[in-house]
Amino acid sequence: MCGIVGYIGNQNSQGILVEGLKKLEYRGYDSAGIAVFTKDGLQIVKALGRLANLESKLEDSPLVGSAGIGHTRWATHGKPSDANSHPHTDESHKFSVVHNGIVENYLELKEELMAGGCHFSSETDTEVISHLIAREYEGDIVKAVQKAIKFMRGAFALGVLTEYEPDKLVAVRQASPLIIGLGEGENFIGSDIPALLEYTRNVYILNDGEMAVLTRDTVELMTIEGNFISREMITVDWDAVTAEKGGFEHFMLKEIYEQPKAYRDTMLGRMNPEGTKVILPELKLTNEQIKNIKNIQIVACGTAYNAGLVGRNLIESLVRIPVENDIASEYRYRSPIVTPETLVIVVSQSGETADTLAALREGHANGAHVLAITNVVGSSIAREADDVLVTLAGPEIAVASTKAYTSQIIAFGLFALYLAEVRGTQSGAEIAHILAAMQSLPEQVEAILEKKDAIKAYAEQIAKHDHLFYLGRGVDYAVAQEGSLKLKEISYIHSEAYAAGELKHGTLALIEEGVPVIAVATQEAVLEKTVSNIKEVKARGADVLAITHEEHVTDLLKSVDQAFAIPKTLPMLTAALSVVVLQLLAYYASLALGHDVDKPRNLAKSVTVE
Ligand code: F6R
Repeated sequence: MCGIVGYIGNQNSQGILVEGLKKLEYRGYDSAGIAVFTKDGLQIVKALGRLANLESKLEDSPLVGSAGIGHTRWATHGKPSDANSHPHTDESHKFSVVHNGIVENYLELKEELMAGGCHFSSETDTEVISHLIAREYEGDIVKAVQKAIKFMRGAFALGVLTEYEPDKLVAVRQASPLIIGLGEGENFIGSDIPALLEYTRNVYILNDGEMAVLTRDTVELMTIEGNFISREMITVDWDAVTAEKGGFEHFMLKEIYEQPKAYRDTMLGRMNPEGTKVILPELKLTNEQIKNIKNIQIVACGTAYNAGLVGRNLIESLVRIPVENDIASEYRYRSPIVTPETLVIVVSQSGETADTLAALREGHANGAHVLAITNVVGSSIAREADDVLVTLAGPEIAVASTKAYTSQIIAFGLFALYLAEVRGTQSGAEIAHILAAMQSLPEQVEAILEKKDAIKAYAEQIAKHDHLFYLGRGVDYAVAQEGSLKLKEISYIHSEAYAAGELKHGTLALIEEGVPVIAVATQEAVLEKTVSNIKEVKARGADVLAITHEEHVTDLLKSVDQAFAIPKTLPMLTAALSVVVLQLLAYYASLALGHDVDKPRNLAKSVTVE
């Protein structure tokens, strides 16, 4: 998974490509590079590591020319190195390619090309593409690209330039996202919309199996077989500044603070004016289909999977339909039992996660209706699903997901209530009561954010430890899993989340003097049980922080070392509040350790490879 950009116009391309790459750095930051048509032909500059390294190289040797392509890499085939950085080229250096995705049969193709006399200078699958295009070139770059991709299997979004036709930029999309930006006397390509927003709001979104040929003044869209197509232009109304840090030190902190707005926006227009009924006019799912649902499968990866755990709790408790949670990379290969009465819900912030997209297709192949909960309207998942419930969190830039997770919980809450209305499993009064509680959540999050200093102080304490445990029961266990993932990914502290009652079946052996344990203890129905589990770890020397409601603090402080109170809400909604504490804990622990909070090592924001 990588990010690609391209420009063809009348301005100098270097700055435009670099700015576009900055917006895409979340997709990978092992290396970056650009290729530009200069007066001396196609020139490439690339640098290992962060984009800043490329920028300083370009300061020393700028590339001057008005057409170019750029790439930011998350290594898949071949270690991060200068040689493996994109753009790649062929031996004649007349063709240049940037690629996001994986060419699955690249070894086979590489052997064939080497047998034909090609020499390779990298370990990447992408270099195969530049050699293939050069081999197939007979005076028409579009035809050469079309012929080359016929040999390739896998996922690829490509930007291709050739010195033989300097007035053309060719773009291809096959199972990896690609957007075309339309300007005046200039056109763009990019892996996603924020990469283009500074220059244009008018875009075409390519579908799988489509390509585009860009010149300064025209964009031609066609299938990869060469049949011309027309597409409606989309005008994006996101504000470019919403994709900037807006005074916060990191995108992650900014996004944590944006949660009250994300909650409000996700609920906006989805209730009747009295706030007593959920209305989801965007759904195609009919009442009859809803009444016929026999089971629900919630499929996603990472944080989106964790949001699905909360979703399950909401749906099962409000609608009493059996729900299974599945990790998308497992689901797609385990022949899940899906029937036409199964509702598959895929959850994805980016809408581009390869495994989640494959899970969606698996659901479709088995005749299920697929609902997507996603944050990106034009994404692949949004376009392929039968129904889409958009989370209105706005662009999420930090690799560690925060506002997308909580907006997914809000979306699950609305959807569960909608199902309950249609199936009659909750009274009107109960639904109104839950909706009122949901509408208080934004203010309650604001109250938690005001207490950030206390969380920061505790984070600085845990930052000194190598291991940490999270405990909880029910919804608290689901939240514990998200808290643990957040901490691991940005602070690199090892942590594990356990169902509180499960610890004594093995992992209790790891608890020793001074080990921090964070107990999420908001669920009144099982509070006594959780307290017993807290006592088990306390007896082994653990240092325990409890996250609970104000009314339980005094009691809990008899068993724990510290307690943090969150505002009172319904037990089924506590995740939308308690997780904010855990997000801030992870953020401040990472900050205390001096890590790159927004771009943790080895990770990328959008995982478009399996
Ligand atoms: C962790 C994180 C990831 C993503 C996962 C799925 O903070 O962000 O675990 O949740 O890669 O991504 P999406 O939601 O884009 O499908």
